[in-house]
Amino acid sequence: MTTHAERYGDRIFSHTGAEEAARLAALAEVLDPVSVEALTAGGPPSRPVRRCLELAAGTGSVALRMLDLFPSARVTATELDLRFLEAIRQDRLEVLRHDATAEDFPDGCFDVVHVRYLLHHLPTRREVFGRIVRWLAPGGRLVIEEPARFPLEAARDPRYRRVSLGALQVLADRLGTDCTDWGPDLPRTAAAHGLTDITLRTTVPTVAHDTPMGRFWRLTVGHLAPGIGELPGVLPEDVPAVLDRLSRPGLVEMGMATVTLTATQPA
Ligand SMILES: C[S@@+](CC[C@H](N)C(=O)[O-])C[C@H]1O[C@@H](n2cnc3c(N)ncnc32)[C@H](O)[C@@H]1O
Repeated sequence: MTTHAERYGDRIFSHTGAEEAARLAALAEVLDPVSVEALTAGGPPSRPVRRCLELAAGTGSVALRMLDLFPSARVTATELDLRFLEAIRQDRLEVLRHDATAEDFPDGCFDVVHVRYLLHHLPTRREVFGRIVRWLAPGGRLVIEEPARFPLEAARDPRYRRVSLGALQVLADRLGTDCTDWGPDLPRTAAAHGLTDITLRTTVPTVAHDTPMGRFWRLTVGHLAPGIGELPGVLPEDVPAVLDRLSRPGLVEMGMATVTLTATQPA
């Protein structure tokens, strides 16, 4: 495994950034409906849901939805950086500082685990996935959602395509992020860990100046702009031009896909 000097949050996507809360809120606006649908897919759970985990909760939007979806459950929301979760105080919600790459939970202790847009950023993603599976109780459900870059490869606007793929290249180089294979491989990864009832949904939101995915992508590209501008093949005017086009009507393109997997720990 290649080691990377930098981790998520050290500099890239630090929660101290002025626009990071807005960036994560835009992501939640795009994906919370998809997450809720996945968490409720298949109707009422076959076993009582008493303990839920929202791993790397970000702004906590899905943890709050889990409280509504599973009214008898206690929800644990974990994060490396608790800044955006500090204001959230709810009965049945436990907020925990927890490093998914280093800290564990007891085997079989959660009935539902949801994790979104975390593992692709972690060079040790396969090992972390294996531990998440162990945290699931027999009959417990995993919902995992990760990005995939293939719609960006097919984007029609060459400058948007160059800059968008450049953003993912900066993340791969600096953090070890995988937006290529990890998401589409999730069904095979889940099956290899013995999970069953595997379902997959792929969502491709629209990037335009007035869509939540457009807002998320403008903030992401803006944050990574210096690194993108240094990549070979990216022209000096590319990043400013794309940021400008993401800020006004005109550009309408496919955004990054999200792969949503649901799977069950055999009883
Ligand atoms: C792209 S954000 C996604 C946030 C949230 N899951 C969502 O989808 O709205 C990734 C989150 O993972 C957190 N994170 C990064 N590395 C982590 C780690 N090793 N353990 C726990 N959380 C981590 C970050 O602080 C950040 O909030």
